[in-house]
Amino acid sequence: MLDPSADEIRNWGNSVIQFMIDYLGGLRDRPVYRHTSSREIRSGLDSKLPIKGTDFDSLLKVFRETIVPFSRQNAHPRMFGYVQSPGTPIGAFADLLASTLNANLTIWRSAPAPVELERLTIDWVRQILGFPAEAGGLFVSGGSMANLAALAAARQTKEHSLGRLRIYASSATHFSIIKAAVVLGIGRENVQYVALDECFKMRVDDLVAKINADLEAGYVPFCVVGNAGTVDTGAVDPLAEIREIANHFQLWMHVDGSYGAFAILAESAIKLFAGMELADSIALDPHKWLYLPVDVGCVIYRDPEIACAAFAYEAEYTRMFGEEADEAFVCWDYGPELSRRFRALKVWMLLKGVGLDRLSQAIESNLACAHHLESMVRGSDDFEMVAPVELSIFCFRHVPAQLRNQSPKAIDAFNERLLVALQRDGSSYLSNATLDGRFALRGCVLNYRTTLRDMEILLDDLRRVAKSSRIPA
Ligand SMILES: Cc1ncc(COP(=O)(O)O)c(C=O)c1O
Repeated sequence: MLDPSADEIRNWGNSVIQFMIDYLGGLRDRPVYRHTSSREIRSGLDSKLPIKGTDFDSLLKVFRETIVPFSRQNAHPRMFGYVQSPGTPIGAFADLLASTLNANLTIWRSAPAPVELERLTIDWVRQILGFPAEAGGLFVSGGSMANLAALAAARQTKEHSLGRLRIYASSATHFSIIKAAVVLGIGRENVQYVALDECFKMRVDDLVAKINADLEAGYVPFCVVGNAGTVDTGAVDPLAEIREIANHFQLWMHVDGSYGAFAILAESAIKLFAGMELADSIALDPHKWLYLPVDVGCVIYRDPEIACAAFAYEAEYTRMFGEEADEAFVCWDYGPELSRRFRALKVWMLLKGVGLDRLSQAIESNLACAHHLESMVRGSDDFEMVAPVELSIFCFRHVPAQLRNQSPKAIDAFNERLLVALQRDGSSYLSNATLDGRFALRGCVLNYRTTLRDMEILLDDLRRVAKSSRIPA
């Protein structure tokens, strides 16, 4: 098992590929989610410490019979919860190859071709975003790590030894920005929430007012975070205006594009992102809207040397001898990690193998699905939208006739119960958001398999579940 023969590897591989074919072929017939319990899952797992090994077929059987059915099927076309990518076979194969080679992307010398491929692919991402040629960055584990790395770089631009630094971000900003502030020692209390307008975008007048008030109180404003797609409604903040304000107050402008930034590939959405290319840093997630399997996030710095000032570290055990500039690239100078898996391979294989035209089409189709749902909801008399659809996130609620005259609290409670019943039903999966203090059903289309018909099925599912589960109104 530790060092299998060629025949064993072939047999394992054949079984795994057969599983993949069956699994992907039968996806639509599976429930997105199966209600279960820790006890039920544990009953399918042998908990004894394994002193002797087990054959591969038995391991695969546990995977097929216990792990797969009791997982949420993230590749299902009606998995609308959170910001969940479906994964893609090319990404799965790339992960297998990356683990086979087991490159460790610490510095160029340790993994020359993998690091070169990462630099090439990062440059493609840079071009997609419209950043200048000198910009650069890294693949990291996800959007949270990308936000952390960017804020660490941002902090270099101000005298920070005395504390009192302030970050500004709309109140719809993802909690990874707050976590980054905590990890960096800036403190969650120093993330100033800027008010939202009626479309859930940052209000720049409030941003200016908050910065001015902080300056008067002796704080050191250093960074403003704009969202290229908020996690709850998908709103894109007014990035060009935020850039102007950042210039005026000499702040670092970071964009959290973890959910939405790759939608710049869709012709119909490009205008929303005007100004994004002027940011000092951006966090992205190829494991969201490039459909790749987790984990791969990405941070791009406009001036990578500033990041270097935050992260570079020299130790005797990592010292390099006699390298030329191109071959002296040190990955850990640009982010928090030392050992790094070969994440670039799946991004490169996807971009090169699928091509931007097809990706752009898939993203357009996701946007169209969300807009289709919005127009069906607006045209119905038993659903209502709670926020406008900007990208592929939709927030709405079910208000059947018998509920129409009830209090907002009763309608919220009904929708909360409906969400749980829908998830247990398994045909479609949504998550939730709280907007203006009210409960909302929330979905995100992030799957190249999702069709307009799936959006219709979602509404039918909600009506059916609301009736059949006899949720008390
Ligand atoms: C807007 C936004 N930022 C950051 C993150 C965090 O990304 P990750 O889960 O890859 O760490 C998310 C996750 O959904 C997100 O939607």
